[in-house]
Amino acid sequence: MTKKIALLAGDGIGREIMAEAVKILDCLRQDFGLNAECEPAAIGGAGYDQCGQPLPEATLALCERSDAILFGAIGGPQYDSLERELRPEKGLLNLRSSLALFSNLRPAILYPQLADASSLKAELVAGLDLMIVRELTGGIYFGQPRGIRELDNGERQGYNTLVYAEHEVERIARSAFEIALLRERKLCSVDKANVLEVSELWREVVIRVAADYPEVELSHMYVDNASMQLVRAPKQFDVIVTTNWFGDILSDTAAMLTGSIGMLPSASLDQDGKGLYEPVHGSAPDIAGKNMANPLATILSLAMMLRYSLAQPELAGLVETAVGKVLDQGLRTADIAGGGASIGTSEMGDAVVLAMRDPG
Ligand code: IPM
Ligand code: MG
Repeated sequence: MTKKIALLAGDGIGREIMAEAVKILDCLRQDFGLNAECEPAAIGGAGYDQCGQPLPEATLALCERSDAILFGAIGGPQYDSLERELRPEKGLLNLRSSLALFSNLRPAILYPQLADASSLKAELVAGLDLMIVRELTGGIYFGQPRGIRELDNGERQGYNTLVYAEHEVERIARSAFEIALLRERKLCSVDKANVLEVSELWREVVIRVAADYPEVELSHMYVDNASMQLVRAPKQFDVIVTTNWFGDILSDTAAMLTGSIGMLPSASLDQDGKGLYEPVHGSAPDIAGKNMANPLATILSLAMMLRYSLAQPELAGLVETAVGKVLDQGLRTADIAGGGASIGTSEMGDAVVLAMRDPG
């Protein structure tokens, strides 16, 4: 059956990196029998420019009838002064929540070819392969009430609400335990249970779910300590499960351990494995349109899509192997070149296609 893939390039470098992912998709369809049709749609600032909304109705409808969504990046300084509801970020947040994409997988893998790119000493990160499972549709990002109100004395007060219901913790915990089963079977739940009631409940539910996964070794860590441990001894972690907010922060730290946020893919999955796949990096307006962005995070996101939503693990492996080959060939975009020779976005995409077609 033909699979349907929505392509949401978004803003900034989003368009350039998406164009490279499309080259890979075309190659998979032409040469490797992938049966998929792709349809582009606007989101973020592009959605606002075209339809006055960061998540246009037609885009949401396309995503609803698609099997998977490939996402570029959103945001740009020209949109920062819009009211919050119209800002690009809102398009992504609404999409995550409308499609119930509650489980966000953010792997941080250090490619041996890029060991020198990490800001940490090579021995601390050699072989690093950890997975952050971030809750994505709850917590402080979506909790009500929220806003900015005026106090009796006329001073303004900003407020947000950090809430988790038991079922939300339970399903993300299950998702993380399942992933741990496929890896080193070590799961660390990160919370702030020494201060927050919501974390106390989080921890209790995670412990309850753990009873169904006796093969997985569960530990708990406070988020401040976790942020320190991630830069002190990151290899102690296999899978980390945490809240939307903590996961946002810790996944950027984990990304940097690998040397380049330009290399990291992510998946956001619903209960049935439908997913949105996006690079961890943002829209990088400073380098947009300059053919400088690294398309590999988007290409690796496509590989995750093939594995998790399209049931094509061999094709996923093919793409990942091709990325390894271009790194072996010494090809680097500027972000991973360490000041050395670099190639452009489109050249990198072409090189991956060549490597996929190369039988050697
Ligand atoms: C991320 C981003 C988003 C988030 C922004 C763009 C809304 O930082 O995907 O990590 O905070 O979730
Ligand atoms: Mg973030």
